[in-house]
Amino acid sequence: MMELETERLILRPWKFEDAPRLFELASVPEIGERAGWPPHKSVEESEEVIRTAFASDTVWAIVQKSDGQIIGCTGYMLADEVNIPCGAKERIAGYWIGKNYWNQGFCTESLMLVIRHAFDESRLSALVSSHFVDNPASGRVLEKCGFKYIPGLFYDENLHTGKAHPMRVLRLENTNK
Ligand SMILES: CC(C)(COP(=O)(O)OP(=O)(O)OC[C@H]1O[C@@H](n2cnc3c(N)ncnc32)[C@H](O)[C@@H]1OP(=O)(O)O)[C@@H](O)C(=O)NCCC(=O)NCCS
Repeated sequence: MMELETERLILRPWKFEDAPRLFELASVPEIGERAGWPPHKSVEESEEVIRTAFASDTVWAIVQKSDGQIIGCTGYMLADEVNIPCGAKERIAGYWIGKNYWNQGFCTESLMLVIRHAFDESRLSALVSSHFVDNPASGRVLEKCGFKYIPGLFYDENLHTGKAHPMRVLRLENTNK
């Protein structure tokens, strides 16, 4: 799996030993409630997430170069668990940043790199992403990265609240194809 690098960040695979740090970041309720999953309840749960959902060639830990700390997660994946339109040569982009690090451009900086990887290395034709309507910061990140809004509302179960929650869907075409 490839490590990626920007001016301030390194994107690298998750390691089992990252579980305590993942727990520290992902147990804060404001992360999962906006991304649609329940906050982590134990380091063991974080270990399990690293062993399963994060064990992918296209899911990266976002590491801040200045202190070597993980500050979030980014990547792209198959659309098997989300209710949004996504073709065979397309993937869903997903990301979150630890609360103490919001609004410093880290998500945008890392997602731009992920987009380049998806289009240059994986030769995907598009990335699709969605965000809850009451989480505009995520929509702003997608727009800054060039994603275009697909008109209409989509609904997905928010695993945090158990309720169907309205989402906006955005899409970025690979224009080099
Ligand atoms: C959404 C999230 C990933 C953004 O990460 P980030 O590193 O803060 O993003 P950036 O700093 O690159 O950009 C954030 C943008 O949103 C804007 N923003 C922040 N709060 C906002 C709000 N309430 N309304 C509108 N825009 C907002 C910021 O001003 C910034 O835009 P700008 O550069 O034009 O000023 C982060 O807030 C997060 O992890 N949230 C919880 C989990 C989550 O929502 N994941 C995505 C699920 S779809």
